[in-house]
Amino acid sequence: MSQDTQGLSQDREPADGFSKGGFILSAIGSSVGLGNIWRFPYLTSENGGAAFFLLFTLCLLLIGLPILLAELSIGRGGRGNAASSFQRLSGRKAWGLFGLISVFGSVIIMSFYGVVTGWTLHYAVRSFSGVLSRETNYAESFQTFTASGYGPVFWQVMAMVIVCWVVARGISGGIEKFNKILMPMMVIALLVLLVNALTLSGARAGIEYFLKPDFSKLTPESALLALGHAFFSLSLGMGTMVTYGAYVNKRQSLKTASLAVVGGDLLYALVCGLIIFPTSFTYGLESQQGPGLVFIVLPAAFHAMPFGFLLGGIFFLLLAIAALTSAVSMLEVPVAFAMEKWKWTRTKASLATTAFCILLGVPAALSAEGPWKGYKWLGRTVFDWFDYSASNVLLPFGGLLVTLFAGYVWKQSAQEADLRPVWAKTWLLLLRYLAPIVIILIFLYSAGVLRF
Ligand code: TRP
Repeated sequence: MSQDTQGLSQDREPADGFSKGGFILSAIGSSVGLGNIWRFPYLTSENGGAAFFLLFTLCLLLIGLPILLAELSIGRGGRGNAASSFQRLSGRKAWGLFGLISVFGSVIIMSFYGVVTGWTLHYAVRSFSGVLSRETNYAESFQTFTASGYGPVFWQVMAMVIVCWVVARGISGGIEKFNKILMPMMVIALLVLLVNALTLSGARAGIEYFLKPDFSKLTPESALLALGHAFFSLSLGMGTMVTYGAYVNKRQSLKTASLAVVGGDLLYALVCGLIIFPTSFTYGLESQQGPGLVFIVLPAAFHAMPFGFLLGGIFFLLLAIAALTSAVSMLEVPVAFAMEKWKWTRTKASLATTAFCILLGVPAALSAEGPWKGYKWLGRTVFDWFDYSASNVLLPFGGLLVTLFAGYVWKQSAQEADLRPVWAKTWLLLLRYLAPIVIILIFLYSAGVLRF
């Protein structure tokens, strides 16, 4: 193997890359997103509250953390996109092909993620303008909005335009700058909402529901959902962190960054649960399930609160920021790929991939509670299929390949990750045995092949 194919990042630095703090902020921005605020609460309430949270935490620490470090190392070691980094480090085309799947996977996730990001923008605008607080039936108004068809598509396009504009400006001048401005705003919004939620009368009941485990409520599918959500929440399995890793300079500690991202993501999920559950318990709104949860339950709760329009506005702004800082990391995957593969300029690559994601996202926009809601295949709409297949099949599968790549194929992974010998050993053990075995068991179990 030549020095080039097995090389480390030592002598190559990216022309446009992240600064030290900017990288950590942007990686946290990528992981903290709709996953934490929109997806996590409804998964938790459908799967037994605290018991699910516990499962999720275990998946995050034992499987998510080692894979995150592996993805960042692969990106920095290979200094390419989500496909070429694998190919360069292994010297084999087949691995590049796997990477290609993750580029496609990112496009699929981007398509439905863009739709929900659009909803958040719409709700942020409606809250601040006071329109939302004048309404009374929030289930109905959410339905009217999604059923109209053109509304969700319009806001999806708006969201994608913002994402495209940021990505087109590059890493340091676009993605990093965007995160540096928005992430502190997000923390402030989060704190305001947390203090408010903890003073509500239903705070105790809500917290108990969220943090006191009831294992009898776990279903066989919960394990798969918890694992899939750990991947989704950390932006793993689809080349996002490989792509970001390529823009990190060699002096940065990937270990510190990984710990910060996992810690930040977990803390954020915890705080979001502490905001959402007390709020829905206080206002006696029966726990609404599915993707509509935060768009129906929370507006109704804010409606009943003093200064509700302001708090509601802050909440949806928080949601929109979280979504946008994640969406930019998702779009960067196909953009980096197109720039390297076809030698496109960043602007051209951003415009083309955005257009593609918008087109692919329209069926998702129309099927999520919209006019195409009735078209179902095996009980799921297009939107549900995008979400379900990406999160519970593509992401764990992508994660599995990453564990095998960093554990067995690329021999210098531990060197690039720069761990002390005992940690390097532990890391490789997790990557070689625990993570792949657990992922495969959960797959077999949920497919019904295995029963215990
Ligand atoms: N982690 C983000 C969230 O929680 C979403 C996300 C960004 C993502 N990049 C990803 C999910 C790549 C899967 C794959 O909302």
